[in-house]
Amino acid sequence: TGLVTYDVGFVNTASCKSAITYIDGDEGILRYRGYPIEQLAAGSTFVEVAYLLIYGTLPTSDELGNFEDLIRRHTMLHEDLRAFFNGFPRDAHPMPVLSSAVSALGTFYQDSLDPFDAEQVEISTIRLLAKLPTIAAYAYKKSVGQPFLYPDNSLSLTENFLRMTFGFPAEPYEFDETVVKALDLLFILHADHEQNCSTSTVRLVGSAHANLFNSVSAGIHALSGPLHGGANQAVLSMLGQLHESGEDPKAFMDRVKNKEDGVRLMGFGHRVYKNYDPRAAIIKKAADEILGKLGKNDPLLDIAKQLEEVALADDYFVERRLYPNVDFYTGLIYKAMGFPERMFTVLFALGRLPGWIAQWREMMNDPETKIGRPRQIYIGEPERDYPAS
Ligand code: CMC
Repeated sequence: TGLVTYDVGFVNTASCKSAITYIDGDEGILRYRGYPIEQLAAGSTFVEVAYLLIYGTLPTSDELGNFEDLIRRHTMLHEDLRAFFNGFPRDAHPMPVLSSAVSALGTFYQDSLDPFDAEQVEISTIRLLAKLPTIAAYAYKKSVGQPFLYPDNSLSLTENFLRMTFGFPAEPYEFDETVVKALDLLFILHADHEQNCSTSTVRLVGSAHANLFNSVSAGIHALSGPLHGGANQAVLSMLGQLHESGEDPKAFMDRVKNKEDGVRLMGFGHRVYKNYDPRAAIIKKAADEILGKLGKNDPLLDIAKQLEEVALADDYFVERRLYPNVDFYTGLIYKAMGFPERMFTVLFALGRLPGWIAQWREMMNDPETKIGRPRQIYIGEPERDYPAS
């Protein structure tokens, strides 16, 4: 069977060719379909970026209008799916609720699951983009014991999500433009990141010709891990613990460096970026602005900045080229917007969805695609006999 290469964690293995996202980790560059992330962050919207990632070009204003309308028309959940949320315990973490609901979605649309039928893929794409915010909002509502709201289809995707999350049925919902804009920006920054753990999961599951819903559901599970998307929740609990205990950031960093109890500086380090994560640079600036505008003076932001300052001047972090990643400052913004910590990774999933869809579709259309099937180096027992009785 030829030579097998041993590459734990696929550090040096390209699993596919892709035309979607470009990263230069040494230079700290990130581009979607060739457009620098900084320019998209400054001028685009999340739905436009979703279109760009999935279809490869920026939409004309007509195309964008049609795409937004199409999404608006599919935001409702089937009433039977709505009933699912009552089956989970009240204190369920919203990530498994999200991924369960996404795989359940496929059971409601069994006539449009063929990964090789362009029309079926198209309608599944729209359904998923439209319904994930509704699912996410219901997971939240369930956890706080509040009534679910039906989507209001006069609103944008981000507005709709905010209203369904924080609104009440009998009251008009007052939007805070700062929050709407900031959340849309954060979604843009999370929208794709080439072959990260969850996207590779979506591709691997899809490579067996599993449908879009099941592939994305698997990606959501991968994202929930604290080394991946779950880091945004872990950062906030780390900052909260430091604040509560009053431990000196320097002493905490000594524990990190000595790898005491495997403690890591969450929100730091990246497999590909060996320079400042360009998303983190945008988010750090945004955190100051947004917290300022919302009138929130969060002592945890100061602790985060102190930790960053200590890290960037410390040999341990410098030698290993560890910088803040996308998760380091996001949680502080989500918290200022009123989201509880356990919703943070759900917000990451909402942002990452267009990337998962784009990558799954690219793979399905790539004639070179094969089922993903890594090899192994066997280190177990040689052949031995089962004892005769
Ligand atoms: N704190 C302390 N030491 C670290 C950290 C950290 N956050 N990250 C890496 N290191 C050390 C690590 O101990 C190792 O040291 P040594 O060579 O002495 O054994 C060295 O740096 C290389 O680390 P690695 O674990 O081999 O690197 P990796 O590419 O396998 O892991 C990572 C990348 C992101 C999983 C890791 O940096 C990490 O665990 N970071 C904290 C969790 C986190 O913030 N994750 C979010 C990632 S970005 C967006 C996303 O995916 O959500």
